[in-house]
Amino acid sequence: MQYSGIKNKVAIITGAGEGIGYAIVELLLKAGANVVLNDVDEEKSKRAATKLDVLYDGSCLSFHGDSGDITTINNLVAFTIEQFGKVDFVIPNAAITIFGSFLETSTEGFQKTLQLNLHGAYFLVQRAAKEMIKQKSGGKVVLISSQVGIRAYKNLTAYAMTKAALRMMAVNLAYELGEHSINLNVVAPGATLTERTADEQPDYSGMWGQLNPNGRVGTPEDIAKTCLFLLSDDASHINGQTIPVDGGWTTAGKYPEDL
Ligand SMILES: NC(=O)c1ccc[n+]([C@@H]2O[C@H](COP(=O)([O-])OP(=O)(O)OC[C@H]3O[C@@H](n4cnc5c(N)ncnc54)[C@H](O)[C@@H]3O)[C@@H](O)[C@H]2O)c1
Repeated sequence: MQYSGIKNKVAIITGAGEGIGYAIVELLLKAGANVVLNDVDEEKSKRAATKLDVLYDGSCLSFHGDSGDITTINNLVAFTIEQFGKVDFVIPNAAITIFGSFLETSTEGFQKTLQLNLHGAYFLVQRAAKEMIKQKSGGKVVLISSQVGIRAYKNLTAYAMTKAALRMMAVNLAYELGEHSINLNVVAPGATLTERTADEQPDYSGMWGQLNPNGRVGTPEDIAKTCLFLLSDDASHINGQTIPVDGGWTTAGKYPEDL
């Protein structure tokens, strides 16, 4: 199915050199959007954007930098306007996952998580929304939460708190930005097999295949397809909602200790 309202739109997506972000960029480009792809890792950012730019005919540009940092955020939006003339879609996707017991979390680790996962998302949306309001053509935002922003999981409290906060950000902004025709929704991925998660845990797919009611781990494409739908005109009456894409884990999944 071809979703409507994606072609010739301009999107900004952070943390997209690999993983879920990369898959979202690829689907957007396939559907005819122009994309500015951000990653903190300069080489990864350039490599991903160049590869996709060749495949999709000059519609993907790289902008590297820390998307938790306000100067990077301002420059990222300014670069997008300079190159493509507008911004229609924003997907603050970059995030840090810190694992560890609540009792042992350091203030530095906690701050770092807040800085990227919340400060980065909040101010990127704020900066882009100002442009969207000036453009008078509305806009779409998809925030990337997590299944652990909905249901408890051991040793992820700080990360889970940031992911739950994004859901409340969308609820409030659906109200506050609604009058400008800017709509916000949230995708909450379940365990998804990416370069990082494959690295972090041997047999990640095997384990989540047992924990998820549908018997498999998520793929970046599972998440990207839902994002594409929410960005399209076909979803224009959905606003302020969180959609878990998790194989049913938040509804009826198991914990590793249940196995
Ligand atoms: N993978 C999962 O299982 C999973 C599950 C639930 C939610 N999520 C969420 O989905 C999103 C993407 O997850 P992922 O696993 O693909 O990500 P990831 O950890 O693989 O990171 C993707 C990219 O982000 C870049 N990045 C890291 N810090 C950055 C920064 N400060 N500024 C810009 N880029 C930065 C990395 O270099 C990397 O290339 C995140 O918001 C994550 O919290 C992922």
